[in-house]
Amino acid sequence: MRHFRFPPQLFRLVLLTLAIVGAYLVARTLLTPQSFGEYGWYRGSALAEIASRTPVFAGKKACAECHADIAQKMAQSEHKTFSCEACHGANREHAMDHDVVPAKVPDSYCLRCHEGNPSRPSWIKQIVVKDHYGEKCSDCHLPHQPTQSP
Ligand code: HEC
Ligand code: HEC
Ligand code: HEC
Ligand code: HEC
Repeated sequence: MRHFRFPPQLFRLVLLTLAIVGAYLVARTLLTPQSFGEYGWYRGSALAEIASRTPVFAGKKACAECHADIAQKMAQSEHKTFSCEACHGANREHAMDHDVVPAKVPDSYCLRCHEGNPSRPSWIKQIVVKDHYGEKCSDCHLPHQPTQSP
């Protein structure tokens, strides 16, 4: 019977494995943020950090408090599901202080959703601008009631 000899390569491989695993363990202790795992698989302090940011959106309800007429018209239109800020952008500042005037929504913004594009779901009505009636959408479509003209 041949005498079993421990292959020297094996010893190096074991050493290398220990070194790699050890390096990961050290890195994990040093690099894991302190509050990680406090509530779950994330940084506990992230909650406070995110909550302390200043909100920039006011929400449709807030807009409707002063612009009830527009909110009502829009509620009966094809655009009924939209929030006001989907087109007008974040406008909390304006909602708190209406001396701050919201930026104009350019006509080209309509094309973000309506420009013909094969990858867009077909239930969204699409136009090919050069075959349509013109580029100035607001000449013919009220933005809050798009199937009505001004
Ligand atoms: C506290 C009342 C108030 C709230 C809340 C409010 N607005 Fe206004 N908004 C006004 C007033 C007042 C004007 C100026 C009136 C006018 O010129 O017709 C105005 C004007 C505007 C204009 C036209 C600006 C221009 O070019 O003249 C837009 C667009 C607008 N608001 C969007 C919004 C949106 C979107 C929201 C919700 C995020 C909102 N508003 C919330 C009072 C308010
Ligand atoms: C589909 C995009 C879109 C949505 C959604 C939208 N708007 Fe507008 N809105 C426009 C455009 C375009 C104009 C005309 C250009 C401008 O004033 O920026 C306009 C103009 C306005 C104006 C000033 C002119 C006017 O008609 O009195 C107010 C105020 C306004 N929007 C409020 C609102 C409110 C409140 C909501 C939510 C209930 C809302 N908008 C939702 C696109 C939109
Ligand atoms: C955020 C995406 C979005 C934006 C921006 C947007 N729309 Fe729409 N629009 C829709 C959706 C969704 C509908 C409902 C589905 C449909 O009819 O295509 C709709 C419906 C319409 C319709 C009715 C189509 C029909 O005959 O049923 C017209 C017209 C229209 N939009 C024009 C406009 C104009 C003009 C603007 C710019 C002021 C605009 N849209 C901005 C998504 C958008
Ligand atoms: C000169 C008037 C005019 C202008 C400008 C105009 N449209 Fe229209 N649009 C119409 C008329 C009329 C219809 C309905 C009948 C039709 O489709 O021929 C329509 C229909 C639509 C529809 C529904 C298409 C469908 O398949 O039912 C969408 C979406 C639309 N327009 C978006 C826009 C957008 C976005 C702009 C700006 C880039 C714009 N339109 C500019 C007159 C106009």
